[in-house]
Amino acid sequence: MILRRKEKAGQWNRKHLLGLRDLTAAEITHILDTAKGFEHLSRQSIKKAPPLRGKTVVNLFFEDSTRTRNSFTLAASRLSADVIEFTKKTSSVSKGETLLDTAKNLEAMGIDIVVLRHNAAGAPAILARSINACVVNAGDGYCEHPTQALLDTYTIREKKGSLKGLKIAIVGDIAHSRVARSDMWAMTKLGAEVTFVGPPTLMPSGVDKLPVKVSYSLDEVIEKVDCINMLRIQFERLGGNPFPSVREYSHYFGLTVERMKRAKKDILVMHPGPINRGLEIESEVADGPNSVILEQVSNGLSVRMAVLFLVNQAAAQKA
Ligand code: NCD
Repeated sequence: MILRRKEKAGQWNRKHLLGLRDLTAAEITHILDTAKGFEHLSRQSIKKAPPLRGKTVVNLFFEDSTRTRNSFTLAASRLSADVIEFTKKTSSVSKGETLLDTAKNLEAMGIDIVVLRHNAAGAPAILARSINACVVNAGDGYCEHPTQALLDTYTIREKKGSLKGLKIAIVGDIAHSRVARSDMWAMTKLGAEVTFVGPPTLMPSGVDKLPVKVSYSLDEVIEKVDCINMLRIQFERLGGNPFPSVREYSHYFGLTVERMKRAKKDILVMHPGPINRGLEIESEVADGPNSVILEQVSNGLSVRMAVLFLVNQAAAQKA
């Protein structure tokens, strides 16, 4: 029993979650198993447990967010932490204060965990080197969005039992998507075959060096895959015009009712949100029987509870 406990503790000893690229399959599995253990909490009438009592989590969001921010807030409060909400618009960042000064000032108030969303890739890693609190990446530029990929992976594992041998398509604006990158790391490490699908103009440079297949035709891929993750076009990040018109994009890369007729009967339809209905996915498909989009959101809560719990535990062990 003592040995088993030691083994369990040994599966996670990181006080930061910066990305999934450097994580082992065992570490990812450990987060998913821990999330499974928290799932019941959301079904209880009193949705509270004490593991983070007396701890303070700050949601430090330099970019807009609906799901991720609220999910972290709820996850932290369900584990009894105090939560500080920080937004760029209402803070002194609008007066020129830097990320590091902001974080150091918050740290001076005794915070324990920083959940950071930032438009600069690598911002969470810089913060982790500069402050003592735990840092959790809630999306950095085009780089990573680890908790989104963990909740995607969790959802697939719940529905299909395992990711081993599954064929997964990630479709759309791969070049500007941190979700695509983190999904790729999590899903391939757990044994799935991932195909990036989209127009050549929305593929990242160096895609040939990534552990994925690449396709420029959704029609070629749709019949073969067990899961399909539809991405939003990140209009706010686009420089030029990567396709002639939105209509043309939808025609070739949209998940339509017509295309779904050729998909496997039990295909899982996923989307990280926010959805642009009628653009990358038709409403009938987003709300249809194969869609697990809202389950992804529910699972996000368990996954974020697990992440906050694990980084806090690792910090306590290192102290
Ligand atoms: C994603 C993000 O912000 O990277 N959304 C999310 O966190 N659920 C994807 C997107 O904005 O399209």
